[in-house]
Amino acid sequence: MRSPLSTLPKAELHIHIEGSLEPEMMVALAQRNGIALPYDSVEAVRAAYQFENLQSFLDLYYAGAQVLQTEQDFYDLTWAYLQKCAAQHVRHTEIFFDPQTHSDRGILFEVFHSGITQALKDAKTQLGVSSALILCFLRHLSAEAAMATLEQALPYRDSIIAVGLDSSELGHPPSKFQAVFDRARAEGFLTVAHAGEEGPPDYIWEAIRLLKVSRIDHGVRCVEDPALVEYLVEHQIPLTVCPLSNIKLCVFDTMAQHNLKHLMDLGLCVTVNSDDPAYFGGYLAENFASVESALELSPEQLVQLAKNSFRASFLSPAEQQPYVEELETYN
Ligand code: HPA
Ligand code: ZN
Repeated sequence: MRSPLSTLPKAELHIHIEGSLEPEMMVALAQRNGIALPYDSVEAVRAAYQFENLQSFLDLYYAGAQVLQTEQDFYDLTWAYLQKCAAQHVRHTEIFFDPQTHSDRGILFEVFHSGITQALKDAKTQLGVSSALILCFLRHLSAEAAMATLEQALPYRDSIIAVGLDSSELGHPPSKFQAVFDRARAEGFLTVAHAGEEGPPDYIWEAIRLLKVSRIDHGVRCVEDPALVEYLVEHQIPLTVCPLSNIKLCVFDTMAQHNLKHLMDLGLCVTVNSDDPAYFGGYLAENFASVESALELSPEQLVQLAKNSFRASFLSPAEQQPYVEELETYN
């Protein structure tokens, strides 16, 4: 008998590790580190998670991240997310981290990097979850600050596969970071960028042409430019779509109105991801379940999404193959 679809092996390609900070851990770490939070309970933290756009979320997300102080804090944060991965059949995950969110508070690169990477190593041996790490620059800060962050990361380059671009999109086009990304590629990093979440299709074009990205993070606004859709389809540039995030941040009003199925029908390489699971109401399995029911996806489409997640990953073709073969058994 065929296994249930809930056991599909999956890869996650768009998760901000700071966005996996659950309210329970936020409160516990605040206590452990003697930090005052503007909330008096876990319930009050959760109740504050009502957002009208990306910026209203980012304000709380950066405030929440301040409870992360020690190497152990970053280990605990990352380990909790990786345990979720194991429980939800996520076999491989490519994790964003935001150095500037921490180094601008005086936390050393070595501290957050060690905590995160030790948890990744333990997950490989103890949970069978493989991973890669993607350093994101905060685009609301200057290009010079991004370049300084890249330089801080160079001693750790063997553990970081790519650089990306996150935070407030509108008013901060990819072109602002062209020189930083040129340098990153020269240093051997792959590149990705958030584009077309709130920003226009032109930002997706810039990410492709100027930053030479391997994937577009979000990208749902590509449909406004037919020539761009044609290009993305022809080159099979993956979109790391985040359904629950898009509803929480009002990119779409309801899940039934989400364009994920339409993107698939257009022939785009679409993947499903959780973005900031502690803030948006679910991890990868909840994102899959939500689009499955709201968009009435077929079993074949769910398997396709899972296959896309490995095909779009930075695993080598040889590493991807066993997962794709396992997924063929579901068809
Ligand atoms: N968009 C941009 N920046 C972010 C996000 C997001 O969804 N999550 C964390 N940083
Ligand atoms: Zn994101």
